[in-house]
Amino acid sequence: MQLIDGKKISLELQAEISIEVQKLKAGGKKTPHLAAVLVGDDPASRAYVRNKVKACENVGFKSTLIEFEVYVSEQKLLAKIDELNNDADIDGYIVQLPLPRHISEQKIIEAIKPSKDVDGFHPINVGRLVLNLPTYVSATPFGIVQLLERYRIETEGKHCVVIGRSHIVGSPMSILMAKNTTLANCTVTLCHSRTLDLKEHTLKADIIIAAIGKPDFVTADMVKPGAVVIDVGINRVDDLSQTKGYRLVGDVKFDEVAPKCSYITPVPGGVGPMTIASLIKNTLLAAKKEIYA
Ligand code: GUN
Repeated sequence: MQLIDGKKISLELQAEISIEVQKLKAGGKKTPHLAAVLVGDDPASRAYVRNKVKACENVGFKSTLIEFEVYVSEQKLLAKIDELNNDADIDGYIVQLPLPRHISEQKIIEAIKPSKDVDGFHPINVGRLVLNLPTYVSATPFGIVQLLERYRIETEGKHCVVIGRSHIVGSPMSILMAKNTTLANCTVTLCHSRTLDLKEHTLKADIIIAAIGKPDFVTADMVKPGAVVIDVGINRVDDLSQTKGYRLVGDVKFDEVAPKCSYITPVPGGVGPMTIASLIKNTLLAAKKEIYA
C-alpha cells in the first residue's frame, strides 16, 4: 500500500505556480489576484478560506478577503458580486459555500461572471466541462485528477465508483473520470445515498472516490484488494482527548481499508490540500486568460 501525499504534491504544484507568477511579474504583467467572499462565522468555512488566502500569499498572488455577517441580505451580496465582476484587478473570485439559508446559492452562483468563476460552479462552466470545452474544473475533482496523474495511477479502461453526487465533488468527478482522455477514460458508476446494494458496486471498483460526507462510511468489506481509494471526506467527530474537542476523519475507515489498497489518500493531508492548489491553478489560468480570452 502506498500513501498518496496530497500535502507534498500540493506544495510542489504551488512551487511551480510561484515560478510562473515570478515570470509573469518579470514580464511586466499584473499580479494575479484572487478574492474570496465569506458569509457568517462557520469555523470550518473560515478555516478553509483562511488557508486559500494564505496559499495565495505563498505563490505571490494578491488576495482580498471580503467578509459579511451571517444576516447580510441577498441583495447586498449580489451588489458585491457585481462589483467584483467589474473590478479589472480581480482575475477570479470565490463565494465560500454553504451560504446561510435566506440566501439562494443558485442565484449567487449564477451572478458570478463565468470568466472569473475559478470554482467552476457557474452553469456555463459546468456545461463546458460536460462538453469538453476549456473551463475551470471545480477545485476538489481537479485536485484528485492531478493526484492520480502525479502518482502515475493508471485509469484508462478501469472501473471507477464515485460515492456521492454533490454539485461540488461527486457529479463533476464522475464526468471527469469518464472523459475520453488518457488521464481518465474510466467506466464510471455514480453511487449515492439511495443506491441499492452499494457494496456490490464498490467491490467491482478499481478506483473508489468517496465523497458522501459520512465518517468511516467505506469499510474494508466494501473494497476489492488492490483498489485505489480516494477519500474526499472531511468530517469533524467529537474527541475530547484533542485540544480542539474534535478530530477530522474521512469517509473511509482508514485503518482497516488501507492494508487492502494499492494507493490511498489520508485525511487530513490527502485531497484537502490539493483543493487549494487547484484553486490557485485556476486563478493563474484566469489571470493568463487561458480559458476565456
Ligand atoms: N465549500 C466546500 N468546498 C468548497 C469549494 O471548493 N468552493 C467553495 N466556494 N465553497 C466550498
